[in-house]
Amino acid sequence: MTSNRALGYSTTQISLHWIIAALVLFQLLFGESMTTVVDAQVRGNTVSPADMSLGTAHYWVGVAVLLLVLLRLALRVAFGTPKPAGASALLVKLAAAAHWLFYALLLLVPLTGLLAYYFSDPFGDIHGLGKPAFIILIGLHAAGALYHQFLLKDGTLRRMLVPAR
Ligand code: HEM
Ligand code: HEM
Repeated sequence: MTSNRALGYSTTQISLHWIIAALVLFQLLFGESMTTVVDAQVRGNTVSPADMSLGTAHYWVGVAVLLLVLLRLALRVAFGTPKPAGASALLVKLAAAAHWLFYALLLLVPLTGLLAYYFSDPFGDIHGLGKPAFIILIGLHAAGALYHQFLLKDGTLRRMLVPAR
């Protein structure tokens, strides 16, 4: 799982990174429609067509995240990841921890979403915690990427944009 390649990420790995990031952003922005739909079902209220469509999209986009992250982990196992750029040992460890936390969230948040959808509480509350967890982690991760780009200038961001093979 920790095997390193001297080369960078492949086109598929880069595409998966940015597609999953965009899908997670969509879920974070519009997830409350799903809460509205679920609450309305419990209370017997009607839901606006916009919330209904966004609720359906939430379901399928979430399932897509789950399937794409399984593919991404399989590629990681098969091909490894490039060696971390030579920042301090502490920063390399923090970045690796953030990446594993991301993978844990990318699996657990959709799974608790499915449990919330079919079995309701307490999974809805647990699923909702995914929102602040993702926001904090994305903030730290993006700050790390920008630190590499503008202060360390070591090409880390570039390798998540330009395929090595
Ligand atoms: C990466 C994937 C996902 C993310 C980031 C995500 C995020 C969110 C967010 C932000 C909310 C709104 C919470 C609130 O109202 O404060 C929510 C609610 C909900 N999501 Fe997801 N979700 C994901 C996947 C899924 C999947 C696959 C399902 C499966 C059906 C799902 C089902 C639900 C349900 C049922 C609710 C309402 C929970 C409740 O209030 O009881 N989610 N989600
Ligand atoms: C929801 C949003 C995001 C998620 C879930 C996410 C997730 C991840 C994960 C899991 C990795 C590790 C890949 C691996 O080696 O297996 C990674 C790498 C990376 N991400 Fe993100 N990311 C997100 C957003 C961003 C953003 C906004 C940026 C840029 C500002 C970014 C820049 C990078 C870079 C440069 C790497 C490569 C790090 C390295 O090679 O050591 N990511 N991302």
